Amino acid sequence: MSYTNLLVYSENGITTITINRPKKLNALNQDTIQELHLAFKAADNDNNTKAIIITGSGEKAFVAGADISEFADFDVEEGTHLAANGQKILFDFVENLSTPVIAAINGFALGGGLELAMACHFRVASDNAKMGLPEVSLGVIPGYGGTQRLTQLVGKGRAMEMIMTAGMIDANKALGYGLVNHVVPQNELLDLCDTIATKITRNSSTAISAAIKAVNANFKEGLNGYQTEIIEFGNCFGTNDFKEGTSAFLEKRKANFLGN
Ligand code: COA
Repeated sequence: MSYTNLLVYSENGITTITINRPKKLNALNQDTIQELHLAFKAADNDNNTKAIIITGSGEKAFVAGADISEFADFDVEEGTHLAANGQKILFDFVENLSTPVIAAINGFALGGGLELAMACHFRVASDNAKMGLPEVSLGVIPGYGGTQRLTQLVGKGRAMEMIMTAGMIDANKALGYGLVNHVVPQNELLDLCDTIATKITRNSSTAISAAIKAVNANFKEGLNGYQTEIIEFGNCFGTNDFKEGTSAFLEKRKANFLGN
């Protein structure tokens, strides 16, 4: 499938999705959000894809936010729909994918850009990256899950300060906050993400999707994380991957997981 605002490339079990609107610093307009939904869905449904990397094109920005030009005239109803629809088709959708998603933050990750990175399962940043939720400087608040996910990732006090000041933090501060897992020079960013993704592709994809569900359950209203873990743990015993993984260990050979 071809996209107007995305580049999608798959190799060795890894699909890399690049948001490609560099002149607008990869700002998320509605078309791009829709295309991202389709690209993530296609990658998740592709049995050959074991990990997904999302990044931005150019050297300056991952994503500089939601496209401000699209919502400047919105009223209350349209604003509510914008947040609800975006959360549903992209941000919650990505968080709940069964395929692991790594955000490769190659520059500015602001507003909806940081929200997208935070919806991914974890984040790696280049040393020039700058992150923030500047929405209150526009008279609005983060609407794509940012108030919740930033609080989960960095704690309430740091999240409150970042949101209230609308300021940006640099990559090393984000590393100290636990917002990103690694910081590397920009020209090493995709290589490091590929290396991490390759390690993931060697493991059981059925077990990894069970782990995603169990970890996410801790943050979902009405779901008990420990209970979800018990159920997902038990379900693993019914998979061929479990039989293969345990047999391979006992037979002192490398497991060959088929993801079922
Ligand atoms: N929405 C729409 N367009 C955006 C955008 C956004 N969130 N962020 C950047 N752009 C556009 C600019 O309007 C500009 O377009 P133009 O060349 O047609 O005028 C282009 O991208 C380049 O941005 P510019 O502001 O000239 O780059 P800069 O290097 O001077 O500044 C930023 C970079 C990221 C600091 C600045 O673009 C910015 O503050 N963007 C908005 C960030 C934001 O508030 N995001 C949250 C939205 S809810």
